Amino acid sequence: MARLKEDTPFIHPDCELHNATFGRFVEIGKGTRIVNSHFGDYSYCDRMADIANAEIGKFSNIAATVRIGATDHPMANASLHHFLYRSSDYWDDAGVDNAFFEHRASRRAFIGHDTWIGHNAMIKPEVTVGHGAIVASGAIVTKDVPPYMIVAGVPAVPMRARFADDVAERLLSLAWWDWEHAQLRAALEDFRTLSAEAFLEKYGG
Ligand SMILES: CC(C)(COP(=O)(O)OP(=O)(O)OC[C@H]1O[C@@H](n2cnc3c(N)ncnc32)[C@H](O)[C@@H]1OP(=O)(O)O)[C@@H](O)C(=O)NCCC(=O)NCCS
Repeated sequence: MARLKEDTPFIHPDCELHNATFGRFVEIGKGTRIVNSHFGDYSYCDRMADIANAEIGKFSNIAATVRIGATDHPMANASLHHFLYRSSDYWDDAGVDNAFFEHRASRRAFIGHDTWIGHNAMIKPEVTVGHGAIVASGAIVTKDVPPYMIVAGVPAVPMRARFADDVAERLLSLAWWDWEHAQLRAALEDFRTLSAEAFLEKYGG
């Protein structure tokens, strides 16, 4: 465990970060790779996560070896191989295919606030995981996940909703993830001990 900081993310050893930006109180697990992505306030990932072209909301809980935004190879061309676009790795007189890389980078995945992405799950490019949703361990998520839904399997399908619709809607409107750090601290005991329904009774939403 680490005492996290507001101004600098806690980056464990052996991470590869390219065009990665971070909010407050962020922690990045050992050996993780993050490319062209943003981690919102309080979000973290465990070891060996591999995340590309993704917008991670606040308070996201990302388990070890999760993959978000795994990129595609050209499937309609004569070859799938990356010599088509990483051409300068193979020839002195061939450049990289910038248009291909730009298209890849534009296919962003969105992971909502207060989400839990289970161990070894994979989330495809352009998928949105709604606020409060859970992705089960080992799931392959190919379609958008509604807020407060649990999805599981390959391909991932809805398993059950976490809450009744009205409770989910009230949590979304409470939007506690936008509270100040001191306000979260003041409500910590209630977060710990109250059910979501009792929490909403006390704090509105
Ligand atoms: C999705 C999850 C939250 C569900 O938890 P739960 O409600 O306690 O689930 P249960 O064990 O009661 O299982 C409910 C059903 O879902 C199935 N199920 C549970 N986890 C599953 C998974 N990862 N993939 C596919 N099916 C799963 C169970 O087989 C069971 O099916 P059944 O109703 O046909 O018997 C949990 O299984 C999970 O994947 N947690 C992630 C754990 C993790 O990755 N932790 C990393 C550290 S943060």
